[in-house]
Amino acid sequence: MTYRRGALIVLEGVDKAGKTTQCKKLVQALQQSGRPAEMMRFPDRTTKIGQLISSYLERKSNLEDHTVHLLFSANRWELVPEIKEKLEQGISLVVDRYAFSGVAFTSAKPGFSLDWCKSPDVGLPKPDLVMFLKLSPSEAEGRGEFGTERYETTVFQRTVQSRFEQLMKDPSVNWQVIDAARTIEDVHTDIKEHTVNAINKVEEQPLGELWK
Ligand code: TYD
Repeated sequence: MTYRRGALIVLEGVDKAGKTTQCKKLVQALQQSGRPAEMMRFPDRTTKIGQLISSYLERKSNLEDHTVHLLFSANRWELVPEIKEKLEQGISLVVDRYAFSGVAFTSAKPGFSLDWCKSPDVGLPKPDLVMFLKLSPSEAEGRGEFGTERYETTVFQRTVQSRFEQLMKDPSVNWQVIDAARTIEDVHTDIKEHTVNAINKVEEQPLGELWK
């Protein structure tokens, strides 16, 4: 039998696009079809670094903007050994947010360039597929109020969306834009198809390095 690594699949998108729901459904569907799969999410609030981030997001503490950016990145790096191990074991990982959220959110703050924001994440395991769940700001607003965490305002989210659009112009990343305005089932069918194609392809491709 040929050796097969798992695929690194990332879901990104604006708030309320349904990322978390879709990640969970995707993992379930993959497992049910006999493909080993697990979910991960960033920030991973369970580690020590993750707890600092969580307290910042909940407005319980303040952190300087560069510092928090580097903590989000460190939170990904600390999980790299686990990511590589799982992929090598043939487990596909479905990841809720990754370095693209890191760059889109920090670069939406004044004075932060896309390049500066990308640099700490250069060399992370490169996703085999990044699906961007697209929802227009008016459709997102129609899905109800934002929460109370930091960054959950309409104005900030619109800037984040435009940063994601800049990132999606990069052809070195395998982006797929998914129309998230449809029913949960329709979005799921679309996402699953792209994922299965990616899983079938990785056999021929070694894991890459992001933005390198
Ligand atoms: P998350 O825990 O996914 O919350 P939600 O389920 O409400 O989307 O993400 C928390 C916030 O952190 C979200 O506003 C996006 C932001 N974020 C960054 O600013 N940088 C990062 O690197 C990541 C992964 C998320």
